[in-house]
Amino acid sequence: MKIFLDTANIKSIKFYNDMGLIDGVTTNPSLLAKEKDNPHKIMKSISNMMDKGDVSLEVIGTTSSEMIKEGRQLKQYGDNVVVKCPMTADGLIACKKLTSENIPVNITLIFSSNQAILAAKSGAKYISPFIGRLDDIGNDGINIIGEIKQIFQNYDYNTQILVASVRHPMHVIQSAKIGADAITMPPKILDKMIQHNLTTIGLNNFLSDWKKIK
Ligand code: G3P
Repeated sequence: MKIFLDTANIKSIKFYNDMGLIDGVTTNPSLLAKEKDNPHKIMKSISNMMDKGDVSLEVIGTTSSEMIKEGRQLKQYGDNVVVKCPMTADGLIACKKLTSENIPVNITLIFSSNQAILAAKSGAKYISPFIGRLDDIGNDGINIIGEIKQIFQNYDYNTQILVASVRHPMHVIQSAKIGADAITMPPKILDKMIQHNLTTIGLNNFLSDWKKIK
């Protein structure tokens, strides 16, 4: 399963990239709004930093023509750019057009398997189901990942499932067990995956025992 970092924070991306943990980055307008720098400067920098890893950059336009125009501009930031379009009728038109120009698309804001089928039909490289936001409204978000996985396998769709809106490390294990192609998570989840109390206690014990020998 590919691991993407869901952030626009350059420092975090560098930190985890130096550990070899991330296969790409996903951003969105809300994540960019949390940073101080110019959003376009940040998007360019992320694309440069990630070498070959896919970097999803989201369009702001709401009509298909705006999204297509913006998608072509975003693609100029790097070969690894994947244009993120929303799951709307216009987003699907933009997806089909950009894909025909060899510009890969990530259809975002997916909340149902039916939406996933349509995004795959329009040629999306990735679909991003937001499981945490489904949990937030009392659904079990992870359910649609299994459902979409089965549907895509039934019809040999090449579209990759990129699990998004991840809230805790169990979402990661559940997605990996289902066989999702990729998951994107905020840095704090990756931190939680690295750490374990028994690792900390064990390390402290080793170090204090070593001091006794000296
Ligand atoms: O990529 C965006 C997606 O992961 C949103 O997450 O936490 O805002 O629901 P969240």
